[in-house]
Amino acid sequence: MEDRPIKVLLIEDNPGDARLIREFLYEAGSGYELEHVETLSSGIERLEKGNLDIVLLDLRLPDSQGLNTLYSLHEKASTVPIIVFTAIADITIGVRAIQEGAQDYLVKGQIDSNLLVRTIRYAIERKRAEKALQESEKKFRLLSQEFHALLDIIPDSLTLISPDLKILWANKGAADGFGMDVIDLVDQYCFKLWQDSSTPCRSCPVKESFQTGKSSKEEIRTQDGRIWELRTVPIFDEMGNVTNVVEVGRNITECKQAAKVKHENMRLTLAAKAKSDFLANMSHELRTPLNSIIGFSELMKHNLKEDLNENHKRYVDNILTSGHHLLRLINNILEISSAEAGKIELEHEMISVSEIIDETLLLIKEKASRNNILIEIDLDPELDFIEADKLRMKQILFNLISNAVKFNKSDGGGIVISTKKEGDMARFSISDTGVGIKEKDMDRLFKEFEQLDAGITRKYGGTGLGLAISKKLVELQDGKIWAESRYDAGSTFTFILPVVAKNRRN
Ligand SMILES: Nc1ncnc2c1ncn2[C@@H]1O[C@H](COP(=O)(O)OP(=O)(O)OP(=O)(O)O)[C@@H](O)[C@H]1O
Ligand SMILES: [Mg+2]
Repeated sequence: MEDRPIKVLLIEDNPGDARLIREFLYEAGSGYELEHVETLSSGIERLEKGNLDIVLLDLRLPDSQGLNTLYSLHEKASTVPIIVFTAIADITIGVRAIQEGAQDYLVKGQIDSNLLVRTIRYAIERKRAEKALQESEKKFRLLSQEFHALLDIIPDSLTLISPDLKILWANKGAADGFGMDVIDLVDQYCFKLWQDSSTPCRSCPVKESFQTGKSSKEEIRTQDGRIWELRTVPIFDEMGNVTNVVEVGRNITECKQAAKVKHENMRLTLAAKAKSDFLANMSHELRTPLNSIIGFSELMKHNLKEDLNENHKRYVDNILTSGHHLLRLINNILEISSAEAGKIELEHEMISVSEIIDETLLLIKEKASRNNILIEIDLDPELDFIEADKLRMKQILFNLISNAVKFNKSDGGGIVISTKKEGDMARFSISDTGVGIKEKDMDRLFKEFEQLDAGITRKYGGTGLGLAISKKLVELQDGKIWAESRYDAGSTFTFILPVVAKNRRN
């Protein structure tokens, strides 16, 4: 601009005034190139061709009068600065002209070369600054639209809050959080929304930010039970005063619950470990003296037979029975707590079904025949082998078959042990013709220390843990166990296990 002459369009019908302007510009030197037209229409025509730096406009032209002249011109070329000429009596029009888009005005008769040139320069500069401002405002507007869209996709609640704790602006996250439309949030008191209260909350991070000029943080629980973390950021004016506060609310209810569950799980795991450690230690401590009691009682019973009278023998038998009972109880408690603590290590191997049943029966047969109980075995030829933990498998079978013997009729009865391959699963059933179980007691089966009939239990002893342990051992091997029974007729206990161990634990 500085290197080339400033292109001036003069729209003036008065030849005297036009000559004066030409002279003033000429006086100012070679920096100006003047074009002159006498009517508004020819001025507009020239403007439309472009390549002009400024227009000097007389408001009284043959084809247009007053401010209308400016409107028409401004409409055609709003990017070119305009200086209007007014007569002395029309100063107010000059001011109006500036309000309507002219950059400046000059009063005819008071113009000289300096004033004209200075006004031209200022007008061009002002227009340029105005244009730059408009562009940056436009950019800012676009940016702030994008920014708003961005703020709306944030799930957190964002609100702008005034010093009287009213919401000035809210994002979609806030609307979702409060279950309202954004428009309805504006002008509401924040404490009304968060706490449904008519007075500000006692501990309010917004108030604190207004008072301290610092960010603040608070956790609140809304009346519907949700937990929110509120963070505030103060906004300052150029004097350093807090004008507004931005509040960011995050719903942390699920996080809190997850943390609580995690903490509770950890506590339970530690408690279970402490319990199983305690039981392991205790049972060791109990078993050592108990083994001495049992061992020495056996010695007395067998080696000192001659020296004992009948009463002594009864006492020794009592000690032995009680000792064995206590030992079984300790072993069972230890077993069940190990299972609960996930401490049982399974050792899968291929087991012959007929062999394991025979081996188990070796331990029970004698007692069964003493009680006149007939044991029948019905094996599925399709199910020769099963992959399972042999020791645990024997334990389950022993528990169930010994129950079938124990709870059979006292004057003899029958037991059927059957197997069946059902798809991927092996099914084992132990049926008896014993005392059966009342319908109302079925739910108590498989629970720890549940013995259904006090009379029978007293007669046969037992710890009431056999079925609970069996259930844990079956489930540990991805199987299931259940019972069917008719009172006074007999029971069938069934368990299924995968033929091939599903998840090998070692
Ligand atoms: N075959 C069955 N017929 C009838 N009742 C049974 C049968 N099996 C179990 N029960 C009932 O379920 C209770 C629990 O059985 P469980 O095997 O857990 O304990 P227990 O045999 O009494 O003692 P333990 O097995 O520890 O020596 C038994 O006391 C008994 O009342
Ligand atoms: Mg039992």
